[in-house]
Amino acid sequence: MGSVGAKEVPVLLSPEGLRIDGRQLNELRPIRIQVGALHNADGSAFVEWGANKVMAAVYGPREVHPRHLQQNNKAVIQCKYNMAAFAVDERKRPGLDRRSQEISKVIGEAFESVVFAEEYPRTSIDIYIEVLQANAGTRCAGLVAASMALADAGIPMVDLLPAVAVGKIAGKIALDLKKEEDNFGDADLPMALVPQSGRLVLLQMEGHMTEDELSQSLELGVQGCREIYEKMKQALRERYATGPIGGSA
Ligand code: CDP
Repeated sequence: MGSVGAKEVPVLLSPEGLRIDGRQLNELRPIRIQVGALHNADGSAFVEWGANKVMAAVYGPREVHPRHLQQNNKAVIQCKYNMAAFAVDERKRPGLDRRSQEISKVIGEAFESVVFAEEYPRTSIDIYIEVLQANAGTRCAGLVAASMALADAGIPMVDLLPAVAVGKIAGKIALDLKKEEDNFGDADLPMALVPQSGRLVLLQMEGHMTEDELSQSLELGVQGCREIYEKMKQALRERYATGPIGGSA
C-alpha cells in the first residue's frame, strides 16, 4: 500500500497481473439478472453486478406527463436514474443532482436508438432506475437492468443494450472497474453496444488515455458487452421458461 496524503492508495495490480479482487484484466465481475422482479410495473428487472444492486421498472406506453412533452409521431422515452442515499459508504444527498440528471439523459438517449418509438405516437415509455447499492459502473448496470425491464414490458426494440465500463488501472486497460479501480485508476470509459449492428449508443470518458489505449479499450469493452449480452438473453429465457416470479399477485 502506498499513500497520498491521508488516503491509502491500494495496489491495483499485483506483480502477477491480478486485480484487487483477483480478477484478470479482461474479466467481468459476477452478474446475476432477475427479470420480472416487481408486480406493479409493466416490466422490471433486478441486477446484481459485483457489489452493485440495481432495480429497473418500466411503465408504458402510457399517457405523457408532463403533457407538453408529448410527440405526435412517436413515444417519448423518459428515463430517471436515482441513487439511494444509502447506496454508498458516505451518505449521498438524496434526490436529483447533476450526476443523476446526466446519467438519466445519456441512458434515455441510448434507448432512443433501439426502441421502436414510432409505433406508439403520443405516449410515454417511462424507465426508472434505482441504485440500491453502488460500487462503480452503476450506469452500465442500470442500462442492463432497464433493457431487461423494457423487454419484460414487451416494448419492441432492435436489440437489448449490454453495457460495461472499461478503464485504465496501473497503466493497463481493464474490463469492468470496481470502486477502488474507478477511484484510484487513470480512466473510466462506460459504453453500451447494440450487439446486432456493433454500434455504440453510449460512450463516455473520464480521465486520460492515448489513442492506442482508447482503441484497445473499445475492443475490450465490445467483447465485454457481448459476454453480458449472452447473460441477458439467458435471463430472459429463464424468466419465460418458468413464468412470473412469485405468481400473479
Ligand atoms: O456508477 P458509475 O460508475 O456509472 O458513475 P460514476 O459517477 O463514475 O460513479 C462511480 C462510483 O462512485 C459509483 O458507482 C459509486 O460507487 C461512487 N459514488 C459515490 O460513492 N457517491 C456519489 N455521490 C456518487 C458516486
